[in-house]
Amino acid sequence: MDMEPKPRIFVTRRLPEPAMAILSAFGNVSLWDQVETPIPRDELLRGIAKAEGLLCLITDRIDAEVIAAAPHLRAVSVMAVGYDNIDRTALAARGITLTNTPDVLTETTADLAWALMLAAARRVVEGHRLIERGEWGPWHPMQMVGQDIYGRVLGVVGAGRIGQAVLRRGRGFGMRLLYHNRRPNPSLETELGASYRNLNDLLIESDVVVVTAPLTPETRGMFGAAQFALMKPTSIFVNVARGPLAREDDLAAALRAGRPWAAGLDVFEREPIGPDHPLLTLPNVVLTPHIGSASVATRLRMATLAAENLVAVLSGQPTPNIVK
Ligand code: DGY
Repeated sequence: MDMEPKPRIFVTRRLPEPAMAILSAFGNVSLWDQVETPIPRDELLRGIAKAEGLLCLITDRIDAEVIAAAPHLRAVSVMAVGYDNIDRTALAARGITLTNTPDVLTETTADLAWALMLAAARRVVEGHRLIERGEWGPWHPMQMVGQDIYGRVLGVVGAGRIGQAVLRRGRGFGMRLLYHNRRPNPSLETELGASYRNLNDLLIESDVVVVTAPLTPETRGMFGAAQFALMKPTSIFVNVARGPLAREDDLAAALRAGRPWAAGLDVFEREPIGPDHPLLTLPNVVLTPHIGSASVATRLRMATLAAENLVAVLSGQPTPNIVK
């Protein structure tokens, strides 16, 4: 009896073994067999030619050219919650389903937002560098003084899953909670006690502003000189969403001028950034290399979920993670 051929799957990076095992048990898998290096464009265009399913990462630009190079493609699964690297219009025109990995990274990413917030407010990295340079002199009353977080005002821009998890932590720190979304969300008011503000009012009132909004044509560049000028001279700006939401040149100028007081950034306009990046010349920034979801358990769960999503779509099973 003829066996149905297994669906062809292309994976743009070697994923942790449990995820590769899920894919191999179901399909005929080929991949860019590297762990650290993104797939070159020509390899992607070649690799996807026969694929019915694609599992990709945030480092892959899946645009109309890639979709056109994949005449059999039925499903794209991205191992991320954000999918601004994917041309959804080109996918929709061909009826190709897109899935992502929400929920599993929510708490891990909220933890990193808080790590950046506390590190920037209390000058943790600056203090570490001072000791490293051998410049730690005798204790004095105003040595390395920072800003308090406990009891202050926390403003979250983009209060989706991750933003809400950031707000929830703020309750434990006795903070007054504000949020800005496209529209007010009454359940945030009742469940978290968070109050809606328009963006300007949130910037004016908050001691800490945490950005967790997705990157869309509407949010690109939403933080520029005019927005930073509204922030308090004691405030902290944290971005764990996508770099292009904030204009980096404007942010660097604003930080130099002392408003906001400090910033914690996990994402940048163009990643990866190098050691010559202008933000690195400033003492009042804490930078991390896009590691919001980077805990061992969460990255494993994201990889297996991305694999499960792809298998579900290709085999016609339901999955809650279809991007609509
Ligand atoms: C995402 O999921 O969108 C992050 O940027 C990577 O975890």
